[in-house]
Amino acid sequence: MTAQHYLEEHHTRHREWRRSLHQQPELAFHEHKTSDFICARLTEMGIPFIRGVGGTGVVATLEGKGDGPTIGLRADIDALPIHEETNLPYRSQHPGRSHACGHDGHTTMLLAAADYMAKSRDFKGRVRFIFQPAEEAEGGARKMIEEGLFRDFPIDAVFGLHNWPGLPKGRLAVKPGAVMASMDLFVITIRGKGVHAAMPHLGNDVIVAAGAIISAVQSIVSRSIDAREATVVSFTQVHAGETLNVLPEECRILGTIRALSAKSAETAGLRLKQICEGICSAHGVTGSVALEHRYPVTVNDPDSAAYAATVAGELWGPDNTDKDYKASMASEDFAFMLNEVPGSYAWIGTGTDVPLHNPAFDFNDELIPLGARYWIGLVENWDRHP
Ligand code: NI
Repeated sequence: MTAQHYLEEHHTRHREWRRSLHQQPELAFHEHKTSDFICARLTEMGIPFIRGVGGTGVVATLEGKGDGPTIGLRADIDALPIHEETNLPYRSQHPGRSHACGHDGHTTMLLAAADYMAKSRDFKGRVRFIFQPAEEAEGGARKMIEEGLFRDFPIDAVFGLHNWPGLPKGRLAVKPGAVMASMDLFVITIRGKGVHAAMPHLGNDVIVAAGAIISAVQSIVSRSIDAREATVVSFTQVHAGETLNVLPEECRILGTIRALSAKSAETAGLRLKQICEGICSAHGVTGSVALEHRYPVTVNDPDSAAYAATVAGELWGPDNTDKDYKASMASEDFAFMLNEVPGSYAWIGTGTDVPLHNPAFDFNDELIPLGARYWIGLVENWDRHP
């Protein structure tokens, strides 16, 4: 039976998996029931696995027929602290948590691919199914690597896949180079001398300094970064004061830097510190910047991206494959894996327009057989990898 027929025949069963995962969303590093579910399905399929790689991560290994490469396929499994606002019969059973990024679907697409491949074994070498926890800002990929993912489970190439609203259903977007931005987070703390608001000359106003910093930082992207290098600096929180007629002692400003090159991210961070220092000095207040590097840039290896596009092109035709799209300024911790092993990260279009991380988001179940076929295609056609 071909992969397509198998996936069509078993679609209802696979869709039930996805909906069952959707009902029990779990947050970063707390995906215990999700891991239980994955392991139960792998056990039914007869695929050996190891639990607890990077906390709640699971790595399963399936041997093919004869010698060949070891290919890693990765799905993220965590949910978000977002209250689901849908009336779906299978909506989240946990108030304040939902699968608003479709990782329930990612988990299912990989399980569906494993389900077929465990029966067909129509490939050489071996496949490692990597079920990764904590993709959402907590760096589960890094934790898996720190705990020996690529040391204990050697891999020749690793691939990632994310469902993507705004792209036509099933269209696969993959290209060489940077596809998702780096993510740095910062906290600026300004300290001054608090006084009565009617007598500001007796103190040092942190709020006026904060305003000057917020304005001046807008020049980083326009004046300090090469205009051809996409970079974003955004403020997300400003905290100061509690009383109507008092100038506060402290102001905290939080935000994030996103960039498609490590150099731009570094320049933006450096300029942020310089601007903060200079303006605080001019205002007679003290300022400090705590900068945290969360995720690096997600960079696709050219050969792996070309191979992934070829596989998708043969499945769905070149018109359904996008090799010339714009990178996203959002971030993805699959970047850590691509820093260790060559591979590529692709988007698969949902054909819907509810954005990711929206309370009304629901993974499009029609993608389950499509994503699974892509995974299977990557494994079965490896002898055509450049
Ligand atoms: Ni996601």
